Amino acid sequence: MARSNPLRLEAASVPQPCPGPFRLLVHGSPNAGVAQLLDRLRGDPDDSRQRMLLSDAAQPGHWFAQLADALPTVPVVVVDAPSGLDAEAHRLALVASLLGVRQLVLVVNRMARIDWREDAFARLVRQYRRHCEQIGIARLLAVPVDAETGDNLHRRSARLPWYRGLPLLERLEDCAPALTEQPLRLRALPCDAAHALPHCARLLAGTPHPGDEVVVLPGATPSRLARLQYIDSPAGPLLRFALEPALPVSPGDLIATPQARPEVSDQFAAHLLWLDEQPLYPGRRYLLRLGETLVGARVTEIKHRLQPDSLERHAAKRLTRNDLAFCNLAIDRALPFDPSAERPATGTFQLLDHTSQTTIACGMVAFGLRRAANIHRHAMKIDKASRAAGNAQQPCVLWFTGLSGSGKSTVADLVEQRLQTLGKRTMLLDGDNVRHGLNRDLGFTDEDRVENIRRVGEVAKLMVEAGLITLVSFISPFRSERQMVRELLETDEFVEIFVDASLQTCEARDPKGLYKKARAGQLPNFTGIGSPYEAPPSPDLRLPADEETAERLADRVIDHLRQRAMI
Ligand code: ADX
Repeated sequence: MARSNPLRLEAASVPQPCPGPFRLLVHGSPNAGVAQLLDRLRGDPDDSRQRMLLSDAAQPGHWFAQLADALPTVPVVVVDAPSGLDAEAHRLALVASLLGVRQLVLVVNRMARIDWREDAFARLVRQYRRHCEQIGIARLLAVPVDAETGDNLHRRSARLPWYRGLPLLERLEDCAPALTEQPLRLRALPCDAAHALPHCARLLAGTPHPGDEVVVLPGATPSRLARLQYIDSPAGPLLRFALEPALPVSPGDLIATPQARPEVSDQFAAHLLWLDEQPLYPGRRYLLRLGETLVGARVTEIKHRLQPDSLERHAAKRLTRNDLAFCNLAIDRALPFDPSAERPATGTFQLLDHTSQTTIACGMVAFGLRRAANIHRHAMKIDKASRAAGNAQQPCVLWFTGLSGSGKSTVADLVEQRLQTLGKRTMLLDGDNVRHGLNRDLGFTDEDRVENIRRVGEVAKLMVEAGLITLVSFISPFRSERQMVRELLETDEFVEIFVDASLQTCEARDPKGLYKKARAGQLPNFTGIGSPYEAPPSPDLRLPADEETAERLADRVIDHLRQRAMI
């Protein structure tokens, strides 16, 4: 695959129709009549077609998962003849091509409603064929049908005299996907180590033989498959095996041929299909699931968003539901993977919401980023512990969050003065101040606020490494980013302090006149008015800022730190 253009894909090299069962993955937009079509096809009384598994993929996440698993699959796109091609049809072809699919079936349904017209059918097919060719899908089989009347499903139809091909069911039987010989890929599963064959793995690609040389990744340790045993399972073939020399294998490790091994990296470029109602923001922390492994991940850059029909590339700062985009990602530790178009089973992943763990995006790896391999951590003699000991204190972050005008900065200032009086070494990072320097380039859109907090979180972490008690006073309106900073630090190093003043109080105080401006429509995205504030559900400390003076609130912070023996 050409590195500069991840969409240009080579056609499969030696096409051999797959001998075993294959799946037909049927999908279309809600008005395309997919359910009725499937009913009619499945209802065929003389169903001797054991090889075809008709699968209805209503949700994008479902068809993605089915296209990416090990069972050979042909996507079948159903469109409504009167409405013509829609974004869904284009998007499905595009994702399929990124998963290495080189053949697709187009079913043009509801032909009765366009009077069985050949010209309308031909125009639609021409348009879709052009799209498919552009994205590397070389073979497009197009069939006109009407699921309501049953025309051209099981038998040729007299209403379509101009159509010379096979009726749909026979056409489908004939389109077993091409198979090419694949290098070995096994993904290790949890296993009973006391067994004579101590390892267990899912066979994702290739044909293993006793004596085969292998490497176990991410460590890249060489070994050999000693003895093995196949086990059939509904989710695909499993393998029990022993290695010689014996090696520790952890669940999620990939076992591969040394000559054609996956890349191992903690940064890579990938296409993302965004499925969530909440937009994607670069810098926000998500969970990434690759096979059985879960790691923390973030999108470091959106390279471009792809228009599914025209394939135009657009600049984007966020992604919304159904967007398909080319992005760079960084994950918490290096994992092995393949390009998705070569081996979808080891080249696809999901992004999950950090708290609810629901799937919010499907991902397709394009290539690893070399820079990841060239930057190493340097172990220094002087570390955080020795700096903390030098300062005779326990460094931490006191994170003040709350609405603008809630009194965060005033309270943080008083707390810092008290800490100094107690002989502590401190630093204060304040939103208004940091936005004059380090974060001068950031505004108040949601994506800029995410980046604002990501940077300040990293700076706060450096301050803690310098051995300082670090006070941070930022609105920090999103739960997700506050949680991200908590996770950057060690347990007990992050104290979330919610300066809880109501919107009415803040607006009445309005120290900078910003609420007035916002109400007058002169300040878009103002927190509490044009932009949300997600209050912490369980902060380490809540300060009742509507009721008490700043002095009293500062006392509460000092008391809290004393109670926890942090000062
Ligand atoms: S944050 O939301 O990204 O955490 P931050 O704490 O850095 O915000 O900056 C907030 C300060 O910027 C406010 O105290 C206020 O003085 C100023 N400000 C200017 N425009 C806005 C806005 N649209 N929303 C909130 N604060 C704003």
